[in-house]
Amino acid sequence: MSRKILVTSALPYANGAIHLGHLVEYIQTDVWVRFQKMRGHTCHYVCADDTHGTPIMLRAEKEGITPEALIERVHGEHLRDFTGFHVAFDNYYSTNSAENRHFAYDIYGKLKANGKIVSRTISQLYDPVKNMFLPDRFVKGECPKCGAKDQYGDNCESCGTTYAPTDLKNPYSAVSGATPELRDSEHFFFKLGDCEDFLKNWTTTEGKLQAEASNKMQEWFEAGLSDWDISRDAPYFGFEIPDAPGKYFYVWLDAPVGYMASHKNLCDRLGIDFDSYWNKDSDAELYHFIGKDILYFHALFWPAMLEFSGYRTPTAINAHGFLTVDGAKMSKSRGTFITAESYLRHLNPEWLRYYFAAKLSNTVEDIDLNLEDFSARVNSDLIGKYVNIASRAAGFISKRFGGELSEMRGLGIDASYIAYHGLLHNLRSKSEAIASLYDARLYAQAIREIMALADQINQFVDQQKPWELAKQEGKDTELHYVCSVLINAFRILTIYLKPVLPKLAQDVEAFLNVAPLQWADAQNLLLAHCINPYNHLMTRIDPKQIEAMVEENKQSLAPVVEAPKLDYEVPPIAETISIDDFMKIDLRVARIVEAKAVEGADKLVSLTLDIGTETRHVFAGIKSAYKPEDLQGRLTVMVANLAPRKMKFGMSEGMVLAAGGDGGLYILNPDSGAKPGMRIK
Ligand code: MSP
Ligand code: ZN
Repeated sequence: MSRKILVTSALPYANGAIHLGHLVEYIQTDVWVRFQKMRGHTCHYVCADDTHGTPIMLRAEKEGITPEALIERVHGEHLRDFTGFHVAFDNYYSTNSAENRHFAYDIYGKLKANGKIVSRTISQLYDPVKNMFLPDRFVKGECPKCGAKDQYGDNCESCGTTYAPTDLKNPYSAVSGATPELRDSEHFFFKLGDCEDFLKNWTTTEGKLQAEASNKMQEWFEAGLSDWDISRDAPYFGFEIPDAPGKYFYVWLDAPVGYMASHKNLCDRLGIDFDSYWNKDSDAELYHFIGKDILYFHALFWPAMLEFSGYRTPTAINAHGFLTVDGAKMSKSRGTFITAESYLRHLNPEWLRYYFAAKLSNTVEDIDLNLEDFSARVNSDLIGKYVNIASRAAGFISKRFGGELSEMRGLGIDASYIAYHGLLHNLRSKSEAIASLYDARLYAQAIREIMALADQINQFVDQQKPWELAKQEGKDTELHYVCSVLINAFRILTIYLKPVLPKLAQDVEAFLNVAPLQWADAQNLLLAHCINPYNHLMTRIDPKQIEAMVEENKQSLAPVVEAPKLDYEVPPIAETISIDDFMKIDLRVARIVEAKAVEGADKLVSLTLDIGTETRHVFAGIKSAYKPEDLQGRLTVMVANLAPRKMKFGMSEGMVLAAGGDGGLYILNPDSGAKPGMRIK
């Protein structure tokens, strides 16, 4: 029976590059989707960039571009990386879309009408320099428990205590460095506690959650479900809340709605009935593949949001564990924080797809990419066991039999006939068992089964010794037969591996001269069929390629020095400007040829400056720091193209540069040797 299946992977944040950790999830999901499609089911795989929130807003600001420009660029980069790994979304959209706004408003409106939204005033840390409320991760300070410095506002990385940002000692804003202050603001909350009965029932319904996830839920229920704050104050990059000017939906409110939005966009483009997937009584299946870190959002908030706004809830949440590399957390200094882009510069994406598949199961256990094991495993399984089958048989078929496979008749029912058919029969008979393993996300087991079949085929090669048959007189029919069995065996293995190795399978289809292979094709044989000459299908990994990749990802981290305690205030860095903006300012070395106090002005010194080709007259507010006579003859730096300003005491034709603040005032000096009139760039 054909199923209607909608599948999602978590929406990656639009402020960072895709790395190998992310790829565990997208590869896991893509394999599952490709498998379902090969089985003949209707299966849509949708995803999107998660574009809203403070980090994305600040990142754009830092780069000197609008958030819209940032998310557009990152969308292109993400899609490029996913495509590079053959992750084939049916739609890769954005949460900053009209569809997403529509469904976010729709769901919020229905929750509100259902009495699930309340508002109340809360106090929060506010950055008085940046004029914004600070998310927990943007407040830093000393841990209230162990005193460790520079800890984030939510938990201490040193002792593991969790706390509120207001508990930090000597807090400072990670955005501006300013000391935050408490301010009141009205916030909107989703009454999660009101959904407890529904959620207790939902999360314990058979098949919704994995055992470990279900246990985690029980812990959360015991701790009590608190109301969920779904609003944020301006400035915020997101959707403004209807009827609440200056208030925005918290990014996690509209992020999962992005699954619907991406699907809606796909349905509209292809004329698919969206409602039949999302209605309460939908007959479609809905699966969310996620990492274990975002379980709370997907197993509690999201089903509750859907249920109480009248939509269907997910069929299941499939969580996976985290990726470690060589047994440790990915690390920038060790070079194991590997971006997708950098991997693709050095290695074949299908090697990683295979390795991940060979390690993945349906649990939330972490998986390790052991770089040595990676090359050993890929080389021995994919090249040694699988690809070799084709390369050993194909040459004889082309050279001796004009590229045509045997009809496999005419040998009579003897022992070898039974051996050939036994082999193919056994291969075909495993089809449903392997399918069940893929369907249950037990990929490691599926790969084990498939490689056991490859071992049997290789034993068959060693028994039949086609290279010897080829040398003997009168053994042509047998040689033809053996090689044709091998090509057929290879074809069936390819079907079983196709969800994991889609590109390789495509190359095999071209080699075998067949239409795209479907799962059911494992039950047919290729007889009296012409194949194409064999071209190399895959190369071995050279460990040097891995070394080069790791080297490229090594970021020398500057030694961590304790930030000194300053007794003066350092203002935040101003908005980024372009080099063109900077080049507009004409800075020159100037010699102070004369410096005089100004009658009636207690801060000003009157300066006559030699800038090589001309002299300028400038008033500078530096009297508190310098005696005029001490300045005479010194070199300094001036802005030479500042529009002249008429001041109370006369015209000022430029400006002298000085460093200053509440810690004193210091005019700038060029290094010795500089000459008046030289331009500063
Ligand atoms: N934007 C949210 C998800 C919103 S879904 C409505 C988010 N983005 S993320 O970019 O941080 O992560 C995207 C997915 O990648 C998550 O499911 C996350 O668990 C997964 N992974 C990120 N790093 C990972 C590893 N190191 N290992 C395995 N999966 C990891 O969370
Ligand atoms: Zn601590």
